Amino acid sequence: MTLYHRPRRNRKNEAMRSLVREHSVTPKDLIAPLFVIEGKGQREEIASMPGYARLSRDLIVEEARELWRLGVPCVSLFPALSDDLKDSRGTESTNPDGLYQQTIRSLKEALPDMLIMTDVALDPYSSDGHDGLVNPETGEILNDESLDILAKMAVSQAKAGSDIIGPSDMMDGRVRAIRRALDEEGHSQTSIMSYTAKYASSFYGPFREALDSAPKSGDKKTYQMDFSNSKEAEKEALFDQEEGADILMVKPGLPYLDVIAKLKQISHLPIAAYNVSGEYSMIKAASERGWLEGEKVMVESLTAFKRAGADMILTYFAKDMARLYNSVES
Ligand code: PBG
Repeated sequence: MTLYHRPRRNRKNEAMRSLVREHSVTPKDLIAPLFVIEGKGQREEIASMPGYARLSRDLIVEEARELWRLGVPCVSLFPALSDDLKDSRGTESTNPDGLYQQTIRSLKEALPDMLIMTDVALDPYSSDGHDGLVNPETGEILNDESLDILAKMAVSQAKAGSDIIGPSDMMDGRVRAIRRALDEEGHSQTSIMSYTAKYASSFYGPFREALDSAPKSGDKKTYQMDFSNSKEAEKEALFDQEEGADILMVKPGLPYLDVIAKLKQISHLPIAAYNVSGEYSMIKAASERGWLEGEKVMVESLTAFKRAGADMILTYFAKDMARLYNSVES
């Protein structure tokens, strides 16, 4: 039998496979989300995210130092606040001496070259648990009225030392409002990684447990995208680009690889993928039960993001992946 095409020749051993390999994941591709709480020496495990914990400021700095040492260039910070600091206007979000701002300053001081990404949305500060302001009579999530506080939040984070602002609120026009406010306050070098195509997803469950930030009433479907749509993601990408975003993000990750591939095609901006809490928990849970080989599934999943076109990945696996990479390399 004369077979001219034998694709298996390129797979004949690991050395050959490594030569023809198109995509791989390195620690440089990763952004590690971290949850900060008040106190000192505090570590609170998150039940629905095995191996992940909320950390007090001092431990966050240690965790970031370890990530930096492993080659991870960026952390994305989220605050878990006690209920008494939450109100309907999210006032605490702009407190220059708030937990969040203090943590940003501590990180910047300890690790000046590491990138700090910060989150702009009202939910961790809001007694309503929504990303924008809520009309108390109708329950409507107010768009234009929310832009001012979101922009102020971004400026407050930039002042504290944030390198990358990540608006995750999905209000219309927020990238423009944030860009303008940052520039007016002299932060023209602060980047915006917009949560461009953020879907109303049930994969965020463990994250909302971590921050105790679930909506008190209703859901987020009037601002986060309908998971049935992909054309709409293109539209959001065009707007965010026009409004001044530096990087576009797709969230969640694994069930949305088609959206990542599409945005990579239509945009000249770098594309980020958010491998969200539920995706992490599924793999951890199955591997704890011995149903999946967790480490291998992790590498396969993260590589799939690169193959789809993601330039960077926010993932709770950042440290596991970076450790594995460094142990294989050395
Ligand atoms: C909130 C926010 C959420 C996540 C990041 N920022 C949750 C939500 O929109 O309810 C989810 C991240 C994850 O699940 O890992 N603005």
